[in-house]
Amino acid sequence: SVLPLPEMLEATYETLQEKVPANLLCPKVGIVCGSGLSTLASSMRDAVLVPYEQLKGFGRSTVTNAAGSLNPDIPVGTIVVIRDHFALPNLSGSLHPLLGPVTSAAHTRFLPLSDAYSVPLRRLAFLAAHRLSLPPDTLAEGTYAWVSGPTYETPAEGRMLRAAGADVVGMSTVPEVVVAREEGMSVIVLSLVTNMVVIPSKYRSIREDVESELSGNAFWRPPTPTVSHAEVLEMGKAKAEIMKWIVESIVSEVPKI
Ligand code: 6GU
Repeated sequence: SVLPLPEMLEATYETLQEKVPANLLCPKVGIVCGSGLSTLASSMRDAVLVPYEQLKGFGRSTVTNAAGSLNPDIPVGTIVVIRDHFALPNLSGSLHPLLGPVTSAAHTRFLPLSDAYSVPLRRLAFLAAHRLSLPPDTLAEGTYAWVSGPTYETPAEGRMLRAAGADVVGMSTVPEVVVAREEGMSVIVLSLVTNMVVIPSKYRSIREDVESELSGNAFWRPPTPTVSHAEVLEMGKAKAEIMKWIVESIVSEVPKI
């Protein structure tokens, strides 16, 4: 069951107060990670791990920050350092996390997002990859298109997002970024490409299929590829370790920026 938002936030805050020692209640770093990175906290000093399922009023986390690639130069397995985003639902008000009355003097009505993704933190990601001697194609930079899901894109939708300037598409992350920016946090997003978005460059004509079949030249039409949640999870697992090293390295350098 889903609580109304104010009660949900209150319940969440109460759980955190119970679980987190008072001297740690003002953390320097917060990491939103899906199931694939749940071991990350174990390597951090003074970390308090609070699984989503123990947060009253919270849903269950089932996936890592996975994204589909729309850019042929960004293959499966790449970790994309997000530099910008667009959120089609938010542009027309739908699902925008900041819709509604301003409830705190610390919040502005019209929050700018042109600087949403911290340049110093993004630099740390690339420095981390260098320091860890990871191959140069481990990381890429790109623009994230946020869609609500829960369906994957049709080929036409994928083409539209690509034409609009997105490199990757996903169903997570952006609401958190918007709220974090509202709270004045510096933000970095690392998104793992788990699959290529299916965008055929050209559709094969059914009319031609049928006409050649009727003239006795039956031929084989390959099945249209589809994304599976299983392949998304599998790639998440395969790259979790590298993702973890990079995040650890960034966190260790945060005090210097
Ligand atoms: Cl192909 N699309 C969306 N919207 N989210 C994804 C994805 C694709 N692959 C992983 N997450």
